[in-house]
Amino acid sequence: MLKENKQIFKIMQKVNLNEKLTLFSDHWNPRIVGELNGQHVKLAKLKGEFVWHKHDSEDELFYILKGELRMEFRDKTVVLKEGEFLIVPRGVEHRPVAEEEVSIMLFEPAGTVNTGGEKGELTKTELEQI
Ligand code: NI
Repeated sequence: MLKENKQIFKIMQKVNLNEKLTLFSDHWNPRIVGELNGQHVKLAKLKGEFVWHKHDSEDELFYILKGELRMEFRDKTVVLKEGEFLIVPRGVEHRPVAEEEVSIMLFEPAGTVNTGGEKGELTKTELEQI
């Protein structure tokens, strides 16, 4: 119930991404900043190498707000720069790598786990809403 109320509170309020980005500094720990149609809009800061993983039933959108992200796939690598986005289709193994800190916006179904089927140290299941 609390979650629902919080969500209602946020409806019709604009979100300033730069402001939201000042509210956290840890890496690989996405924050929820919006929700629509069963999807979450998340912000995250990444630095270093993530784990190889895939999501069996979710497509993920990575939109680069600041910095540069390398998305590795088993057969190719895509370099994403500020203002660019990439959709990783469900079932496709991927590994985000950030040489320097990168700030991204994610768009994916609510409940999508950051490490997909690879549960481990970097897995985050309870995401903070900011
Ligand atoms: Ni993923």
